[in-house]
Amino acid sequence: MSSNTTTTIPEDEAPAMDLPIIDLDIFLTQPRSSPAVRAECAKAAQALITYGALVLHDGRVSEGDNTAFLDLLEDYFAQPRAELARDERPELGYQVGVTLENTEKPKCAVDAPCLDVIRRLAPDQRPLDIAGHQPDPKCRFFWRMGEQAPYATQFPALNARNVVPEAEGIRERWTPVMEKWGSSMKSAVTGLAEMAAVGLGLPAETFSDAGRYGPHLLAPTASDLTKYGALDTILAGFHTDLNFLTIHGRSRYPGLHIWARNTGRRIAVKIPSTSTSTSGTYLLVQAGKQLEHLSGGLIKAGYHEVIVNAATLAAVARRRVEQPDRPLVRISSTFFWHLASDYDLAPLPALAERARQVRGEQLGLGRDEGEEVVYESMKVGQQVQNELKHIALMT
Ligand SMILES: [Fe+2]
Repeated sequence: MSSNTTTTIPEDEAPAMDLPIIDLDIFLTQPRSSPAVRAECAKAAQALITYGALVLHDGRVSEGDNTAFLDLLEDYFAQPRAELARDERPELGYQVGVTLENTEKPKCAVDAPCLDVIRRLAPDQRPLDIAGHQPDPKCRFFWRMGEQAPYATQFPALNARNVVPEAEGIRERWTPVMEKWGSSMKSAVTGLAEMAAVGLGLPAETFSDAGRYGPHLLAPTASDLTKYGALDTILAGFHTDLNFLTIHGRSRYPGLHIWARNTGRRIAVKIPSTSTSTSGTYLLVQAGKQLEHLSGGLIKAGYHEVIVNAATLAAVARRRVEQPDRPLVRISSTFFWHLASDYDLAPLPALAERARQVRGEQLGLGRDEGEEVVYESMKVGQQVQNELKHIALMT
């Protein structure tokens, strides 16, 4: 594979973050039939079709809860490796508890359609080279945020019990902090799923009902920047997420790049900060494989990578001065919202029809979207297991 061999573009030369900003408060506070709600929902759906991503403002969410979450996870991942290893559950495919560094592999390196996506990008817009197929040097914690289904699931391993770390000073803080921040992101992304459904011409609850008993995960990653802090280190190689929608709070260290479907540009993500005049917080939402599948490719799962770029290094230098006693660990504030494992995943006919139209329009504009994808019917749990095999977390 030919790939990008140049160094990362400095932050001030990177394309500006120009994703649409969607206001969840409009949807939550105004009548569903109002023109303002209709317009905001249409904007949300269009943002997902065009970019596979958007910035979401939720007035109910407190940035302070994200701060408490980031502090807790920094303290947790600063523990000795032997202590962390007690929280591993390999027999459950690492779907609860901790995944230590160098376990998860970027699937793209062995995936022909994904390598084709990179090939079709302009050389200066390509991700850092993942051809070596090294596992990602990042740790992860999975904290389940699902609601117990009132039926027997065919996929029990994906609905396993949570692991609470045992160390004193962490154990008591863990559950309240994880639940508070996780619930905030879960309600924000559920609201956005309803907005997107309305904007796509579907009943508001189409996606939220399908995901009600999904095995949602609060899924922070941790990268030790004292060990993996060199410029152009890949912390998470180029990939898409296997779930329905992913939502992120602000990280203390930049380094997330996303690719917008219709521009082919690499975008350095900057989540706007909340000013003193506005309440709530801004969150980043990205489409995953389940949404791509259910929409018949109308909305494509968004590619992204996390690397050490010039802005990451600048944040590390600032942090060393401002908080010299804190661990230099990059925590990602990530939540994976899933459809229920037992849900039958098949393209919704109205969306699949529009997907064909959009694909035709793209071709007419000379934009090569690669081979047409066939979205076969299967249970969501089957789709998840297929994806996990690719990234080496389940055999
Ligand atoms: Fe991801």
